[in-house]
Amino acid sequence: MAKVFITRDIPQAGLELLAGQCDYTVWRGDGPPSHRELCAGVAGCHGILSLLTDRLDGIVMDAAGAQLRVISNMAVGYDNIDVAAARARGIAVGNTPGVLTETTADLAFALMAGAARRIVEGVDHVRAGKWLTWGPKVLLGHDLHGATLGIVGFGRIGQALARRAAGFGMRVLFVDSGNKSEAAAQLGAKRVTLAEMLPVADFMSLHVPSTPETRYMIGSTQLAMMKPSAILVNTARGDLVDPAALEDSLRRRLIAAAALDVTEPEPLPVGHALLALPNCLVVPHIGSASHATRDLMATMAARNLLAGLAGVPLPNPVP
Ligand code: NAP
Ligand code: GLV
Repeated sequence: MAKVFITRDIPQAGLELLAGQCDYTVWRGDGPPSHRELCAGVAGCHGILSLLTDRLDGIVMDAAGAQLRVISNMAVGYDNIDVAAARARGIAVGNTPGVLTETTADLAFALMAGAARRIVEGVDHVRAGKWLTWGPKVLLGHDLHGATLGIVGFGRIGQALARRAAGFGMRVLFVDSGNKSEAAAQLGAKRVTLAEMLPVADFMSLHVPSTPETRYMIGSTQLAMMKPSAILVNTARGDLVDPAALEDSLRRRLIAAAALDVTEPEPLPVGHALLALPNCLVVPHIGSASHATRDLMATMAARNLLAGLAGVPLPNPVP
């Protein structure tokens, strides 16, 4: 029977599909396996079911051995995998697009609203016993309705965010490498360049993958071009934003706030400067974290894995 290494305990829905179909081992450490533990865990395996926290490079693939047939990532993003190295070794690579789109867009919208209306600061205010009366100037924030939302990356999640924004009467601008004219027409969104978006967006939400081209696409130059009242939301990948530039611009109030589900580094260490800023809301990479969506992701990852082990095309290969 084919041997499989699963790099963390995944939802039961995925494990049930694999039961009896392969001989799998689940990594039971507290966190992700280290690179060295990963190399040891995959030795002799035909398949790996990985998470975005695992760096799967050629070293890990070679540590597995020439019999390795498939790497199935339980995530839509696959920047943690050296796809070229996998292709060179004839290893199929799969991911989980689509099933987490709406759940992640829900979180992006929640972060946007949370930062705009200063929800976490409000909760802290109440818990600290500072709620003494209704205050005409207490915790004033920014309106979502009528605001301009700039979406960077108008793919599945970007478009799902635009659908939510329509319900709030927001004007939607987007940046994308493709023209996306059909989606733009359907959603009443306008394609612009990043340079056009930066000075006019009240909210800017990032939805491009992490690639060498998108790394640090938001740095000090871009942040300085944004409105002082603007709010930056990142639910894509931490390395799209230069963290030192973001800290500086939040501290100097060059932008009003940021709301981050993803960071660089990830996780942000306790005591990191961004965590001390009241205008920076950080949650721990929970974009797809609903019960139903994680079941769907685990199921999809299991199906990709089984197809790869059987040597047939994966239902969801990475592009
Ligand atoms: P998607 O459908 O592929 O959308 C990405 C969009 O970005 C595509 O329209 C793509 O255009 C565009 N794009 C790529 N490179 C670009 C560039 N350099 N400049 C401008 N546009 C560019 O992917 P998705 O499913 O929406 O997911 C997007 C990302 O979100 C994932 O890669 C992942 O990193 C992240 N994510 C995070 C969470 C979370 O838990 N926080 C959950 C899900 C996803 P083309 O299609 O024309 O190339
Ligand atoms: C989550 O970040 C994913 O890429 O699925």
